[in-house]
Amino acid sequence: MQSFQFQCPTEILFGRGAEEKVAEKLRERGASRIFIVYGGGSVIRSGLLARIECILTSAGLAFRVLGGVQPNPHLSLVREGIREALSFHADFILAIGGGSVIDSAKAIAHGTANPGTDVWDFWTGRAHLTKSMPIGSILTLAAAGSETSDSAVLTNEDTHKKVGLNSPFNRPALAFMNPELTFTVPHRQLVCGISDILMHTMERYFTSVKESNEFTDLVAEALLRNVIAQSKIAVADPTNYDAMSEIMWCGSVSHSNFTELGRGKDFSCHKLGHELSGAFDVTHGASLTSLWGAWADYVCPDDPARFAKFAERVWEIRSGSAEEKAHAGIQKTVDYFRSLGMPVCFSELGIGVLSDDAIAALADSCTAGGTKTIGSFHPIDRAAAIAIYQKAN
Ligand code: NZQ
Ligand code: ZN
Repeated sequence: MQSFQFQCPTEILFGRGAEEKVAEKLRERGASRIFIVYGGGSVIRSGLLARIECILTSAGLAFRVLGGVQPNPHLSLVREGIREALSFHADFILAIGGGSVIDSAKAIAHGTANPGTDVWDFWTGRAHLTKSMPIGSILTLAAAGSETSDSAVLTNEDTHKKVGLNSPFNRPALAFMNPELTFTVPHRQLVCGISDILMHTMERYFTSVKESNEFTDLVAEALLRNVIAQSKIAVADPTNYDAMSEIMWCGSVSHSNFTELGRGKDFSCHKLGHELSGAFDVTHGASLTSLWGAWADYVCPDDPARFAKFAERVWEIRSGSAEEKAHAGIQKTVDYFRSLGMPVCFSELGIGVLSDDAIAALADSCTAGGTKTIGSFHPIDRAAAIAIYQKAN
């Protein structure tokens, strides 16, 4: 097992009615001026925002509200949020929504705590984040895992660049996770979220580390098997509390770094996928499934035994050589994504067939013009990125 350092400081309140403790928990942390961020209106339609406003008002907590966060959240709204949070003298940023809202809240927190720095500079690496302010979330969609993760992903709509920032300051202080709040998630978002949850563990399962790491492998395999099993129940009945609970909790564990301890991570599919979302505004989970099979076929020859282990333990494929099991496991995974109705190539993703020039531009963007590689299982250089995009095309 490789050495590791792990800290996930988020206080999690999980279960029915969890969000009703929001005022109590904010007070415990000394927060009194709450800047609330939400998305396109689902929290208004469900009545959740009004309920939270009522709870905060009753507790004597001041708040200001900013809505309008879109999926693949935009930098411009974050900048507006920073201006508003500063003028309101906010001392806590509360996201009510899914990953896009939580990531915007994280960015607003960083920008508010560092008013002299352009917030995008933290994402491009021009500035280093050394302080922020506390954030929390009332989660309404099991998917991105941002409620516990050390990551936040923003899109600069002027340059069409979608970029992730990893920092301990991205770890939220509080997460309120009531599975009932996810019952209204549309089918398409549900299956994109399930796919993203699986990918967060798969991107940590396939790394170049060869040392034994049995516990982390078992945790990862259990998570994958469980999400696959529960997804069948949840897709048939999105109001099934038990299935939605399992998926919601697995979503947080999957991206909390817990399934990478001692093994590290790869995340090349995420980086390849972010280029697609930046250029074509496609849904995050769909960007991943559209190219995972192409990535897996491309990198599998590096370590077929690893893919064979995945096939045996996740898909119960017992016969054949390591190569045969590996390929059967990849096929099973692609078939599973297809069974959810997820795209498994670019034409199914709805971006048509890309030209060679368009693919070269995507590959240039994610490898900084061929000057860097992404991922660790098989470091993906510009040529490899082009080959994977071509295969998914
Ligand atoms: O905006 P509203 O009206 O709220 O509707 C949203 C949105 O249209 C809707 N929705 C959410 N909860 C709902 C609901 N509709 C009805 N009922 C509910 N209870 O779902 C749509 C998608 O929301 P979004 O927040 O975009 O989805 P998700 O949670 O999948 O987040 C995706 C974003 O997170 C990033 C992705 O790249 C993408 O930008 N990621 C963030 C990560 C992180 N911070 O750790 C890691 C991930 O790998 C990912 O990259
Ligand atoms: Zn993801």
